[in-house]
Amino acid sequence: MGKLIIDGGNAVSGEIHVQGAKNAVLPILAATVLTPGKSVIHNCPSLRDVDKTDQVLEGLGCSVKRVKNTVTVDACNMTGCTICEELMREMRSSIVFLGAIIARQGEAVVSMPGGCPIGLRPIDLHLKALRALGIDITEEHGYIKCSAAKIRGADIHLDFPSVGATENIMLAAATADGLTSITNAAREPEITDLGNFLNAMGADIRGMGSSLITIRGADSLKGVEYTIMPDRIVAATYLAASAITGGEICLTGANPNDMNAMLHVLGEMGAKIQCDTDKIYQLSPKRLKSVHTIKTMPYPGFPTDIQSPFMALATVADGTSVFIENIFENRFQHVDELVRMGADIKVTGRSAVVRGVEALSGANVVARELRGGAALVVAALAANGRTVINGTEFIDRGYEHIERCLRQCGANIRRE
Ligand code: UD1
Repeated sequence: MGKLIIDGGNAVSGEIHVQGAKNAVLPILAATVLTPGKSVIHNCPSLRDVDKTDQVLEGLGCSVKRVKNTVTVDACNMTGCTICEELMREMRSSIVFLGAIIARQGEAVVSMPGGCPIGLRPIDLHLKALRALGIDITEEHGYIKCSAAKIRGADIHLDFPSVGATENIMLAAATADGLTSITNAAREPEITDLGNFLNAMGADIRGMGSSLITIRGADSLKGVEYTIMPDRIVAATYLAASAITGGEICLTGANPNDMNAMLHVLGEMGAKIQCDTDKIYQLSPKRLKSVHTIKTMPYPGFPTDIQSPFMALATVADGTSVFIENIFENRFQHVDELVRMGADIKVTGRSAVVRGVEALSGANVVARELRGGAALVVAALAANGRTVINGTEFIDRGYEHIERCLRQCGANIRRE
């Protein structure tokens, strides 16, 4: 297990170019198997989860080549329809391959993804929707087996606007017979990115970004060249890193339009923010103000993925802030670690009450999941003294060269 060692106190000031969005790359790489052609994907961050997705593709018989941040997938010789248990366990978001594999091969076999550190993460909505598209699904011995002679368009209502289920339906329905509609679809920008990619391949998908998505099945799709959208969660994490240290930062290659809920909260906490089309400038106050209440919600609400890094901000803000986690039941694992650093946080069920303290102090802490780990980095940058963060493999799932990005802005951070 690697460690990040951070000596807190330096302002995070300067410029960071925002990486491509992990949560957009994964379903888009899955979508490349929908065509026997070649797809060239630019702005793919070099991350553990993206490497694992490449391994899934290779396991299916695709050829995958990476040159810097461009990944070329040739799915011409795809022969497989199975994702091995090991890869499913390592990255439960591989479930999004289900819709794509079944659409290409007529059958798909994946192991049951099981729980993960942030919660149970069931896949009932995925399976119900795929069944509605005429796919036969059996669940036995820990495996999900799907088959369909032909996928047929259907009207699907999601009981919850699940991001992964919406993506799986789009992938399965892109080449189905007839029209599919998804009501109560997820509206996340990554859904729009996937839809734009599929449309570039020749699909006919409309309504991305709204709660009603329609998909008219295309006869066939072709390989294309595409650039992944910026990562809005990584962008907000770097804004938090700068805000907590009283820094001045400019993010380039960002899309502020996707980040309204997060930018609004930073403004409420006292940061001065100015946006251009693809840039965000932020000037931080000497001390942040608390926020009344942050409730995580599906997009365009406040994202669950940035709840923990923003909680780190609240630990040293002036006043009391309340966080309510509505999406995942076990997403407060960073709390105990922040408390070790001197934070005053009380958790009751899905709510956390954070009373801002004057300062945090460095400690030995453990990242237990991706965004919780990022929260510890944010807190450590402002803490007095040295923080050692163990479990960096979680942070590496979503942040490309996090120490390099922060060091170039003056942070005292290194990896061991
Ligand atoms: C995606 C993101 C993740 C983000 C989440 C919510 C990727 C790779 N991951 O995860 O970073 O935190 O969206 O914005 O894009 N649910 C069910 N049954 C299902 C599916 C989901 O009950 O079949 C529940 C989940 O347990 C959770 C909620 O719905 O409570 C949201 O899950 P979902 O939107 O599906 O998140 P993911 O796609 O897994």
